[in-house]
Amino acid sequence: MKKRIGLLYGGKSAEHEVSLSTARAVTQALNFDEYDVFPIYITHEGEWRKGEQLMAPVDTIEQLQFNNASNQELPNNISSFLPSHQEKEEAALDVIFPLLHGPNGEDGTVQGLLEVLNLPYIGNGVLASSAGMDKVVMKQLFAIAGLKQVPFVHFIRKEWQKDQESLIGKMEKDLAWPVFVKPANLGSSVGISKASTREELIAAVEMALKYDRKIIVEQGIKAREVEMGVLGNDTPKCSVPGEIKPLKDFYDYQAKYKDGNTAMIIPADVTEEVEQTMQDNAIKAFKVLDCSGLVRADFFVTDEDEVLINEVNTLPGFTPFSMFPLLWQHTGVNYSELIDQLIELAIERHAEKQQLHYTMD
Ligand SMILES: Nc1ncnc2c1ncn2[C@@H]1O[C@H](COP(=O)(O)OP(=O)(O)O)[C@@H](O)[C@H]1O
Ligand SMILES: [Mg+2]
Repeated sequence: MKKRIGLLYGGKSAEHEVSLSTARAVTQALNFDEYDVFPIYITHEGEWRKGEQLMAPVDTIEQLQFNNASNQELPNNISSFLPSHQEKEEAALDVIFPLLHGPNGEDGTVQGLLEVLNLPYIGNGVLASSAGMDKVVMKQLFAIAGLKQVPFVHFIRKEWQKDQESLIGKMEKDLAWPVFVKPANLGSSVGISKASTREELIAAVEMALKYDRKIIVEQGIKAREVEMGVLGNDTPKCSVPGEIKPLKDFYDYQAKYKDGNTAMIIPADVTEEVEQTMQDNAIKAFKVLDCSGLVRADFFVTDEDEVLINEVNTLPGFTPFSMFPLLWQHTGVNYSELIDQLIELAIERHAEKQQLHYTMD
């Protein structure tokens, strides 16, 4: 029996175009003898469009956007839009692959929708996705798990407006310059800036507050950035480490998505001990956030070989040229195999959940 897979991509997000490219790459990697592939596109405006079953890989992202009017459908009844297992057997999708990044995609909201519809889906569930999206919650959980990380201060807009002076005082006491100011809930380096003075700090906070009501200010660290892929459910495995070398001051949005010339070194040149620490910590991070399927764990490695966790990405970049698939490629799992494994993991997790009792008897 062929598995029916739904690709969910696009989205109300700065990473809309990245998501389309990823969806195209996934169609090129899927074995159409094994899978029936159904595209589901969320426009920039948040409108859902269901396409016809794909019979072959797509060459251009335009083919995935269904701009002709006949394809447009509004999801006023989402459960009919995404046929679930409780409905007619031939209408059911076996698994959804959400290829959405950032808010409304990576933050647990779409995952919640798929849970309500009881559809198996690839990747992290609601809790891991939302905890991983909020840098403050994530770092507080990392602290509970005993993971080493840079010192940080956090606050919400109201606190900043009410008592900016004492917040700055606290930062000057707890952190050393330069600091990194970040909106708590965005990815892709949006709204992030580095501040080396009081004036820069104030400007950075004002800028970050445009993107979120919650702000995190971290101590800056001079270190290499080394990342690791984690794959699995209850017994997750780690990939080889990979280093990113931003050619600019830091790995900002431009460097990530526009320049395309950020160097990746895979496997990263780190000692066995550093690699082992990264593996242990990546698994601890995976477990404390209750992750499933996949994450990319990002670390700072100092000149003294100290390993500090920066963050985990619960839906890491997933084009064939992104770090996560490349890390697995170097670990012996190619792009197509990686997708196959993620599908199996999604189905496994969903099946396990079906065993749960929802009543007392
Ligand atoms: N505390 C820090 N010290 C030094 N560089 C940092 C720090 N925090 C972030 N950066 C730089 O900014 C980039 C983006 O920050 P990150 O927290 O990873 O946000 P995002 O979720 O947008 O990827 C990092 O890849 C790194 O280059
Ligand atoms: Mg990052």
